[in-house]
Amino acid sequence: MLKIAPSILAGDFLNLRKDLDIVNENADLLHVDVMDGTFVPNISFGFPLVEAMAKVVTVPMDVHLMIINPDKYVERFAKAGAGLISFHLEAALREGKNPSDILAMVKDCGCQAGLAINPDIPVESLFPYIEDADFFLIMSVFAGFGGQQFIEGSLDRISALRNEMTSRGISKDIEVDGGVSAANSRALIDAGATMLVAGSSVFKAEDPAAAIAQLRI
Ligand code: DX5
Ligand code: ZN
Repeated sequence: MLKIAPSILAGDFLNLRKDLDIVNENADLLHVDVMDGTFVPNISFGFPLVEAMAKVVTVPMDVHLMIINPDKYVERFAKAGAGLISFHLEAALREGKNPSDILAMVKDCGCQAGLAINPDIPVESLFPYIEDADFFLIMSVFAGFGGQQFIEGSLDRISALRNEMTSRGISKDIEVDGGVSAANSRALIDAGATMLVAGSSVFKAEDPAAAIAQLRI
């Protein structure tokens, strides 16, 4: 089943409740971008906002950790209300951590565990973790900022991961994040993506509910 995950990074922070209601009524997940200013050159938000949103959000919160040392914070994000937690393979490896251990930690906290990669990381780097992760996040822009242009080469990367899974008889979710809109959603779904993250194309639209519906076509 296709899941649409609007990214609250593009929401109206002075009217968050309105945007969260739109997500509750029209989408499948709420995508929450956590940035630390070190793994990525931007800082977004953390525990207090996730805790506050958990009180009103009725779909699972999909927390995307763009931070160093993700293992340090998994438990706190799970307690804050995350339903899914993804972290970057390159962040884990750079720190000499075993990504499979962190995936297991996420699952132990009762969350679905996702492994993310930036566009400059070979997609084959995910293959050793196909068994261990619940889902995979292919960045279609470089992590750090909303509103960037979709990188076309992401389609081939999604197909390659989908083909590898299929050849092993495994079917897991592939999430795509960055520059996703109605202009590319059909191609992404055809390539094998099953979770579409969309920030600007939803929340900057005049009618966000209609924009979510268009992503499903
Ligand atoms: C970028 C974030 C994305 C971002 C997507 O680092 O991971 O989730 O919010 O925003 P759009 O859809 O505007 O590219
Ligand atoms: Zn994201």
